[in-house]
Amino acid sequence: MNMAVQIKQPGGPEQMELVEVAVGEPGPGEVRIRHKAVGLNYIDVYQRSGLYPLAMPLTLGMEGAGVIEAVGAGVEHLRVGDRAAYTSNPPGSYCEARVMPADRVCRLPDDIGFETGAAMMLKGLTAQYLLKRVKPVEGLEPGDFVLFHAAAGGVGLIACQWAKALGLQLIATAGSDEKCRLALGNGAAHAINYRSENFAERVKEITGGAGVKVVYDSVGKDTWEGSLQCLRTFGLMVCFGNASGPVPAFAPSLLAARSIYVTRQTVYNHIATRESCQAMADDLFAVVQSGAVKIHIDQRYPLREVQQAHRDLEARKTTGSTILTL
Ligand SMILES: NC(=O)c1ccc[n+]([C@@H]2O[C@H](COP(=O)([O-])OP(=O)(O)OC[C@H]3O[C@@H](n4cnc5c(N)ncnc54)[C@H](OP(=O)(O)O)[C@@H]3O)[C@@H](O)[C@H]2O)c1
Repeated sequence: MNMAVQIKQPGGPEQMELVEVAVGEPGPGEVRIRHKAVGLNYIDVYQRSGLYPLAMPLTLGMEGAGVIEAVGAGVEHLRVGDRAAYTSNPPGSYCEARVMPADRVCRLPDDIGFETGAAMMLKGLTAQYLLKRVKPVEGLEPGDFVLFHAAAGGVGLIACQWAKALGLQLIATAGSDEKCRLALGNGAAHAINYRSENFAERVKEITGGAGVKVVYDSVGKDTWEGSLQCLRTFGLMVCFGNASGPVPAFAPSLLAARSIYVTRQTVYNHIATRESCQAMADDLFAVVQSGAVKIHIDQRYPLREVQQAHRDLEARKTTGSTILTL
């Protein structure tokens, strides 16, 4: 038997329980992985609270790293004993071991530790597609200004460093002066405390009135309107999360004055095939191995303390990546 964190119904952190589960043998196209570490992500909060409805009971968790224990028929890219890491839909990584589809599971390079692997697959593959696959119509060139909200968080700190490596001038927002310093120390060109300053006005000042080419917005409700004000003509608004709540319905005419493009993205479309998932993971592994992007594991909680981990994440107390240890 193995331990897993399950919810029987959506709700607060108190809904999460450590339970014993049976873990069987992998079927065709599946592997069994024994986790060494599990990644915590904000999507886990949406799934726990019911904002993203899922069938119950549910084992939460979208990210992990460990050792392949068994391989089902037809799986060719993994063998028993391989070190591996993944972000994968459906959820189920808050556990000691699981059987899961193999397609999104990647071999972890020997020089990347399990904890780093667990801390970076969902967040790093997200930063990868945001910066490299979701392009404004006028392209993204070194020197261009972009705005990245919640820049001291898990996805944010990776994006700050990667954007710098690409030559972009990333304007960071974060919820405290300390978090702003962290973003600046990780490659952001400018940082704005959006709890004490009007970020749209500050972006106008920083860009000499022009605005930014792209806004990467995972905060949602609280930042949506200000974010639109920050964009230059033909700019791209990339919505990819709702940490403050979902963006309310809006009229397209709101976008007309500067012909703004809006997109709502999810990493799971970008990694939908084994080939694209591996290519993006290879790019992520390379930028981490080069040292250009460091994975900050700023919080560790034992799996049994997952309720506290969720409370801290929702209270905006965390920075960088958080892992659950086994
Ligand atoms: N669509 C995708 O493909 C995709 C993939 C991965 C992640 N995401 C999204 O990207 C965002 C970052 O994910 P993450 O796991 O790295 O989380 P995170 O950034 O480490 O944590 C979320 C951060 O959001 C900020 N925030 C702003 N308003 C908030 C509020 N009312 N309540 C709570 N937090 C608030 C907080 O930073 P400040 O205190 O600095 O404001 C908080 O630390 C999340 O919204 C997540 O859902 C989307």
